Amino acid sequence: MKIAVIADIHGNALALEAVLADLRHEAPDVVVNLGDCVSGPLWPEETAAILRETGWMTVRGNHDRVVAAGNIPPENRTDSFTYDHLSPESLTWLEGLSPVIRLTDEILLCHGTPEDDNTYLTERIDGDRIRMADEDDIAGRLCGEAAPVICCGHTHIPRLIHLAGSGQTILNPGSVGLPGYFDDAPAPHKSEAGSPHARYATMTKTAAGWLFEAKILPYDWGKAALEAERNGRPDWARPLRTGFYGPLS
Ligand SMILES: [Fe+2]
Repeated sequence: MKIAVIADIHGNALALEAVLADLRHEAPDVVVNLGDCVSGPLWPEETAAILRETGWMTVRGNHDRVVAAGNIPPENRTDSFTYDHLSPESLTWLEGLSPVIRLTDEILLCHGTPEDDNTYLTERIDGDRIRMADEDDIAGRLCGEAAPVICCGHTHIPRLIHLAGSGQTILNPGSVGLPGYFDDAPAPHKSEAGSPHARYATMTKTAAGWLFEAKILPYDWGKAALEAERNGRPDWARPLRTGFYGPLS
């Protein structure tokens, strides 16, 4: 059994196409998508059209939830842009996504934590950036969820974490389409993957246990950055081009 795990596409159809091409070689049995599918100043409708076609099991991310609900305040420029560029069919598709999916008895899929799509599971805010959280804090954020394998996204930082106490494994494949960002809640901070590549992961059941593989793919990130600039978002263009958000002013 080989599962491909993708997350945080954020409307980057070019990066998603690179993942699709790579998946043709990987030939997984199942592909799962952990949410934040379309939100961003890039190609939301094109991305939604691709995803609707794939039929992948897809979790609803925090941005998917905000966009699907509508009535987005204009100061939320990213989700407003996204809402304005989605077809009614794509909005209906977003509305229908589940916040959590139990893929098997062994594997739980969520976006943030099993309880909250807008809380980091694997990271904590430290000064102006996020870093890996302590083991006990990560265990506490599971709120009693006992699935042996938990797949999450939201932080855009790839991680494979094994909790020695419970024996649980947490996989975050990193972000397909946005390798760095700034968020002002709950405190101002940035996330930086450190390279502009499109990331996802595979997990394969072997006699010894799950084998996890990180996939780190080149694609035309300069073109994605230009699209962000064309849509008035240099704050997206820099991380798309470099994997670094840059200094917080
Ligand atoms: Fe998210």
